[in-house]
Amino acid sequence: MRFSPEGSHGANAGLKHARDFLEPVKAKFPWITYSDLWILAGVCAIQEMQGPTIPYRPGRTDKDAAACTPDGRLPDAAQGTKHLRDIFYRMGFNDQEIVALSGAHALGRCHTDRSGFDGPWTFSPTVLTNDYYTLLLNEKWHIRKWDGPQQFQDKTKGLMMLPADYALIQDKAMRPWVEKYAKDNDLFFKDFASVVTRLFELGVPFKPDTETMTFKPTNA
Ligand code: HEM
Repeated sequence: MRFSPEGSHGANAGLKHARDFLEPVKAKFPWITYSDLWILAGVCAIQEMQGPTIPYRPGRTDKDAAACTPDGRLPDAAQGTKHLRDIFYRMGFNDQEIVALSGAHALGRCHTDRSGFDGPWTFSPTVLTNDYYTLLLNEKWHIRKWDGPQQFQDKTKGLMMLPADYALIQDKAMRPWVEKYAKDNDLFFKDFASVVTRLFELGVPFKPDTETMTFKPTNA
């Protein structure tokens, strides 16, 4: 992602802000690879936003521009569950895990100058909770009338869902997982921690005996 074309793939829109934010950290601790730093930042962000503890293992190597992935391997928010399955099954994730990973959308928001979509998914976008699931199930979602990509809007018009989010409750196999996570924040945290760790460690050539580290959030 440090190089074109991967850095400018549509599905990576906005991540330049996060990469730039971490440059001073890389400058201060040049021994860490970018890849380890970005994952470590993800681990810290989840924990600082009151999410579950995520174990961290170093070992990611940095590659050059020749290693850029082809476009189209990341999810497209305008599509539904057939597409989500194509994307996530390739990486070894199942329906339950697709639903658990999507719960990260409790955090942050969409930006018109990045993805083109607009707005947050929850009322507390700096705290990881299972609100994404409760809102997805309990709010009445309608298609927003606006001059932008198709997205869903709640009654207050303050929240949004992407077509790829809304698709989860229309899918017979995925909806039961949305319901389970809406009812049980502990289950969501347990499953999210486990699946996000797998996502963070996909394809990493860990050295044997690499120590797993866990960090305490600063508010603990
Ligand atoms: C399931 C397929 C997914 C789709 C279609 C998708 C799509 C999107 C889109 C369109 C945005 C808005 C970007 C912007 O305009 O700034 C976004 C933001 C975000 N996504 Fe996803 N995403 C998916 C999965 C994930 C996963 C697996 C995670 C993490 C585990 C994640 C975490 C986030 C976060 C935290 C934001 C907010 C960024 C911000 O506030 O700037 N997403 N996603």
